[in-house]
Amino acid sequence: MAKILEKKLLREPDVFYFKLAAPLISKKAQPGQFVIVRLHDRGERIPLSLADIDPRDGTISLIVMAVGKTTAEMSVMKAGADVLDLCGPLGTPTHIENHGKVILVGGGFGIAPLYPIARAFKGVGNEVFAIMGARSKDLLIYEKEMAGVCDRVIVTTDDGSKGMKGLVTQALQQELEQGGVGLVMTVGPAIMMKAVSEATRPFGIKTLVSLNPIMIDGTGMCGGCRVRVGDQVKFACVDGPDFDGHQVDFDDLMSRLRRYAREERAAAERWSEGCRMKDLADPADPAVELLELPDPFEEVKGG
Ligand SMILES: Cc1cc2nc3c(=O)[nH]c(=O)nc-3n(C[C@H](O)[C@H](O)[C@H](O)COP(=O)(O)OP(=O)(O)OC[C@H]3O[C@@H](n4cnc5c(N)ncnc54)[C@H](O)[C@@H]3O)c2cc1C
Ligand code: FES
Repeated sequence: MAKILEKKLLREPDVFYFKLAAPLISKKAQPGQFVIVRLHDRGERIPLSLADIDPRDGTISLIVMAVGKTTAEMSVMKAGADVLDLCGPLGTPTHIENHGKVILVGGGFGIAPLYPIARAFKGVGNEVFAIMGARSKDLLIYEKEMAGVCDRVIVTTDDGSKGMKGLVTQALQQELEQGGVGLVMTVGPAIMMKAVSEATRPFGIKTLVSLNPIMIDGTGMCGGCRVRVGDQVKFACVDGPDFDGHQVDFDDLMSRLRRYAREERAAAERWSEGCRMKDLADPADPAVELLELPDPFEEVKGG
């Protein structure tokens, strides 16, 4: 059981910040690792990256984007509520060493896990640049936090509403052409990580990507998170999540991410239908408390 100590809406309407009491995890966790969360005894297990770790006050921070049933359920939890299980720290920490100049490229919720990674690279003497991309300025998160731990932050927006107009790869290309880059690391949507890896390939610059395949146990036993890296099959939960971006088969990763789309859609629809039923019911009616949210998988069994 882990108590939610703080919750904030980070970005309208669907990105939330949570600070949780996790004294044991915070003592061991390192940048690049993640936890697996189960909200309640009927809940599924979902992996979430550590957006911050504070062993002094025994807390960890998570940034959650509500994209489906479980993340939507978490987004309505309030400070003071308990998360049933928090398993971690999981995964291999990001390898931190001095490369001279490091460029971190983040998109979507991927910017959040880059925050402790940026601090760690800075801590061993690197010059750290961050390139943060979003479709428009309202969709950016963690800009101030990243500016606090990086030497320079470059913002790109697809519509030009903030920073440079265009994609993160355009800003990256300009930086690469100036030379002197020892490492590029990227966290975000698979398609963005693929494009970043292709941008660095001609320059021969080592490029780390933090992969986000479907994970179930997170301990190397179920095989759900397998990814193709070079001529090998790796389990992202134990061998990663960081891998050499020039070796990753992104097309295989993206097709595996789409595999459960139908079931995920059905689960989200049933959950929001359950919420609507609760909203419509008379709150004074004692039966409301007993109104169970439906089994998210019932509809798709045998399908
Ligand atoms: C190592 C790792 C770190 C992650 N860190 C974060 C984070 O910090 N913040 C954040 O908001 N999200 C993070 N994710 C993604 C997050 O786990 C999924 O968004 C979440 O599981 C979606 O569940 P859902 O029921 O809300 O949505 P669903 O409708 O079930 O799924 C929506 C999409 O999320 C992905 N997804 C679903 N289930 C899983 C799963 N078990 N494992 C991985 N991906 C899944 C799929 O691409 C799917 O299309 C991370 C994923 C991985 C693997
Ligand atoms: S999540 Fe099961 S092996 Fe990685």
